[in-house]
Amino acid sequence: MSAVQESFKNVMSWIDARLPVTEAYEKHLAKYYAPKNLNIWYYFGIFAFVVLVNQLLTGIWLTMSYVPTGDGAFASVEYIMRDVDYGWLLRYMHSTGASAFFVVVYLHMFRGLMYGSYQKPRELIWILGMLVYVALMAEGFFGYILPWGNMSFWGGQVIVSLVGAIPIIGDSLAVWVRGDFNMSGVTLSRFFALHVVLVPLLLLVLVVLHVLALHEIGSNNPDGVDIKAKTDADGKPLDGMPFHPYLTVGKLPQIIIFMFLFATVIFFYPDGGGYLIEHPNYEPANPLKTPELIAPVWYYTPFYSMLRAATFPLFGMDAKFWGLVTMAGAIVLPFILPWLDKSPVKSIRYKGLASKLFLAFFVIAFFILGYLGTVHPTPVKTLVAQVCTAIYFAYFLLMPWYTSVEKTKPVPERVPS
Ligand code: HEM
Repeated sequence: MSAVQESFKNVMSWIDARLPVTEAYEKHLAKYYAPKNLNIWYYFGIFAFVVLVNQLLTGIWLTMSYVPTGDGAFASVEYIMRDVDYGWLLRYMHSTGASAFFVVVYLHMFRGLMYGSYQKPRELIWILGMLVYVALMAEGFFGYILPWGNMSFWGGQVIVSLVGAIPIIGDSLAVWVRGDFNMSGVTLSRFFALHVVLVPLLLLVLVVLHVLALHEIGSNNPDGVDIKAKTDADGKPLDGMPFHPYLTVGKLPQIIIFMFLFATVIFFYPDGGGYLIEHPNYEPANPLKTPELIAPVWYYTPFYSMLRAATFPLFGMDAKFWGLVTMAGAIVLPFILPWLDKSPVKSIRYKGLASKLFLAFFVIAFFILGYLGTVHPTPVKTLVAQVCTAIYFAYFLLMPWYTSVEKTKPVPERVPS
């Protein structure tokens, strides 16, 4: 052993005696066994991690030049775009990053639905994931207000006023959230605090817990085979491989391709034709000028459609209240998914036709709702939104029935080669 290696070993044993770094490295990387049959759907967790780092870093640098006041915010974003060295790049990396985050997280969640990754014993991984998703939605909303463009103002106005639909306390709650009777600089400053401190901290803690919970149980896989059930003489899973170096190095090319696509959007389509940065946001906030169409950014539009799909009063409560209940229900329902799925198998590969059809209709309905949330409602479009909302809810609420009556295929004992 060379002198350098000797000193490194001594330093590491000094640290390990005080903080088990080597033990953590072995548990989570060198001796963490991942299934051999992971496919493209298993890239999105890592991509989400890459985007998270991008958001944190670009966010820190943007904060250095951003002014969180009603008078200064819009001008400071213009200053970042025009005068700060590479400020335009930082801003576009951050704004494109927000959309990229939702793209990869939606695909990551879809993978979970396909392969039943939420089923026992991974319920907590799923629930922590859902909490990450809700935190991400909050983070995106607060961030969208910060440029203080006209859509920031009006979008914020519409979303915060939803709180007003809550009976009795709604109106006072909306004033409490805004800190004012209308959206104002006071609201902007508090949303800034939430966007840069509270929600990112929460996100980080939740992501760490999400990955720790995953490493306790181990990854599921496209076949839903339990790789820990078949081990060699040393107790290593026969169908597994150590995370490091196989997946750390093995996933590098995919990460590079992802970054390449990400860079293409940043350099060539930073506003995504009005879908990533909406056109009214190039004008400063103006309480006297309502944009022609107030629509949230694409990643919220499926839920926005469900909100608008409630058009009639019921049980003495107005349509706005039921819209809020529908939207909240759509976000809360996936939390209990692990207890709705009664199937004896995990992966869609071995589930019956009913599960496949319900999942396909669910995805189609989600896309249609997403589109409808970006356009003006008409009676026909509202009807379509109502049907799609019913399909969304049916996927979850009928799951205990269709997953218990359908015929499933036998799951192989080992990962098929
Ligand atoms: C910042 C956001 C997130 C990050 C950084 C993240 C990270 C990860 C990573 C690195 C993995 C392991 C690799 C993989 O399976 O792809 C994973 C697995 C998983 N994640 Fe996430 N995740 C995030 C959000 C979510 C959300 C929103 C959900 C769903 C509600 C979710 C549900 C799951 C599940 C069920 C697994 C286990 C999958 C399996 O073993 O088949 N995650 N996550």
